[in-house]
Amino acid sequence: MTIDMRVMIGTKTIIDDQVSKIIINLVNTNPKAVLGLATGSTPAGVYAALVNDHITHRTDYHLIKTINLDEYANLDTDHPNSYRTYMNNHLFDHINIRLEHTHFPDSTPFVASFLEQHPVNLQLLGIGNNGHIGFNEPGTPFESSVRLVSLSDDTLSQNARYFETPDQMPKKAYTLGISDILKVHQIILIATGPHKARIIKQMIEGPITPQLPASVLRRHPDVTVYLDHDAAALLDQSLDIYTKGGVALDIIA
Ligand code: F6R
Repeated sequence: MTIDMRVMIGTKTIIDDQVSKIIINLVNTNPKAVLGLATGSTPAGVYAALVNDHITHRTDYHLIKTINLDEYANLDTDHPNSYRTYMNNHLFDHINIRLEHTHFPDSTPFVASFLEQHPVNLQLLGIGNNGHIGFNEPGTPFESSVRLVSLSDDTLSQNARYFETPDQMPKKAYTLGISDILKVHQIILIATGPHKARIIKQMIEGPITPQLPASVLRRHPDVTVYLDHDAAALLDQSLDIYTKGGVALDIIA
């Protein structure tokens, strides 16, 4: 029996705690690790837990490097809605990471050579309501690598809430590609809230298809999906994939 994916179901508090501990353990055991990071509402609790841990235990990030999944194009890096600003506010300004070790995909050749020289040890992912990972929208070929993309209408409406008026939101972004994401050693995807339940069910129980980019993660050898009870609500736990193999499902709290 082969396990395609581990799925952990718990409260948001337990998820933030467990995922932050995995990252802290990696940083302590491999002080030069490369972390692949995401923005959005999903990972904010994990970053808060990392900041708390740094204040309490002085976990040392001074040799750690990071690369974020995506960044808007044609938006100043110090704009309040840039992903650089998000990362500085949620994490980088509160731990002892060197800002010159933190990277965003703002030019394709730079990121391609960075990833070649610095394989990512652990990638943190959220998932869009349409199944996107990074800004790899439905229909993106699994072979795609880092590039400039036009954001889908779904994503534009999902993210417009962060801008004062919807027309201020950039229509293009740089994103790591699906093939870049599949090259990392370990992947953790988190999904919370009832609005993620439908896409999570399709990602885990439906076909692996470019129409749902996150479904490709089932082909990666080391993926753990953390779901709160709302995001897991539509999973049919009597299916063979859970009872006879394919997905290892664990209730953590
Ligand atoms: C952000 C990113 C996106 C988000 C996704 C979910 O860097 O790569 O794919 O992970 O849009 O966003 P939230 O967490 O706000 O629901």
